[in-house]
Amino acid sequence: MTETERIVEKLNRGVFPRVSELEYILGDIPAEEEEFLFGAARRTAKSVFGNKVYIRGLIEFTNFCRNDCLYCGIRRSQSITRYRLTEKEILECCKEGYDLGFRTFVLQGGEDPWFNDSRLVHTVSAIRGRFPDCAITLSVGERSRESYRVLKEAGADRFLLRHETADCNHYGKLHPGEMSFENRMECLRSLRELGYQTGCGFMVGSPYQTMENLIEDLRFIWEFKPAMVGIGPFIPAKGTPFEHEPKGSAELTLRLLSVIRLMRPDLLLPATTALGTAAEDGRTRGILAGANVIMPNLSPENARKNYSLYDNKLNTGCEAAENLAQLKASMAEIGYEIVTDRGDSPAYING
Ligand code: 5AD
Repeated sequence: MTETERIVEKLNRGVFPRVSELEYILGDIPAEEEEFLFGAARRTAKSVFGNKVYIRGLIEFTNFCRNDCLYCGIRRSQSITRYRLTEKEILECCKEGYDLGFRTFVLQGGEDPWFNDSRLVHTVSAIRGRFPDCAITLSVGERSRESYRVLKEAGADRFLLRHETADCNHYGKLHPGEMSFENRMECLRSLRELGYQTGCGFMVGSPYQTMENLIEDLRFIWEFKPAMVGIGPFIPAKGTPFEHEPKGSAELTLRLLSVIRLMRPDLLLPATTALGTAAEDGRTRGILAGANVIMPNLSPENARKNYSLYDNKLNTGCEAAENLAQLKASMAEIGYEIVTDRGDSPAYING
């Protein structure tokens, strides 16, 4: 039995591996052990979701942001063309998505103060009213507990807020002093308590990240029990303080996807745009490593080019919602089927 087989067996028994075991499996394991790891994660995903891949229509509705995260291409200090979609435009994106078969809309944006509670609640209620059979996911950053509460009341079902790193010191190296690790964790706890299907996540290979940090991220996921986890390699963005930092590894991202899948079989785990950008066939390889969600872009054409979280962010081809047929074909090639479904986490379907 190889070391990888032993560790996978441990994960299958629901045991959190030792630090040395995680270091091993996330390190440069032999190719055949890596294949074994991907295969095991894939089997686990199939045991819960079959060969189904859920799709989410991503609507990047504002690139205004009050924050200045050192890694991010839409941070406050970037001189980029700023835009925000009107409610009408957002609803048009949803309509287009609905007709294509999307039953989840992800409203993602910078922390844009213009979208105060009354405006955002209005938009969420409008989507809820027009698309009663769809799930609404928000990805709008840190807000007050009261804000999260009224947005939930207005009809939001899910919330993505990547924790970015589970290590407070590392968090401080990625974010300006006015942002706090404690507040981010507090937001995540509030979201979960309010009944959102909550997603956390982190970048792989972000500057200053150590193996120890990654293991802390896994431990955090293990303990927090999120409904979703978004991970993707760090990709430098021009004009940011990290523009000359090396990009994160797609291979390590794939191994992490597998380990996360094995840790939490029923998790909603996207093969992210960053993974697709960092490696050829990144998204397909993500699915083959245990991911089960893809989030094509539904944003209007001119919004897409200005929502550059990092350089060369994909927004055409299989990335674009209008090319769903192409995505379906590439999934069919590896034996997977794109489904028109809200795609809730099995843990939440009756909850
Ligand atoms: N590279 C990769 N991912 C990034 N994000 C922001 N900037 C980058 C980058 N340069 C991720 C963050 C954020 C999510 C919306 O995008 O993790 O939470």
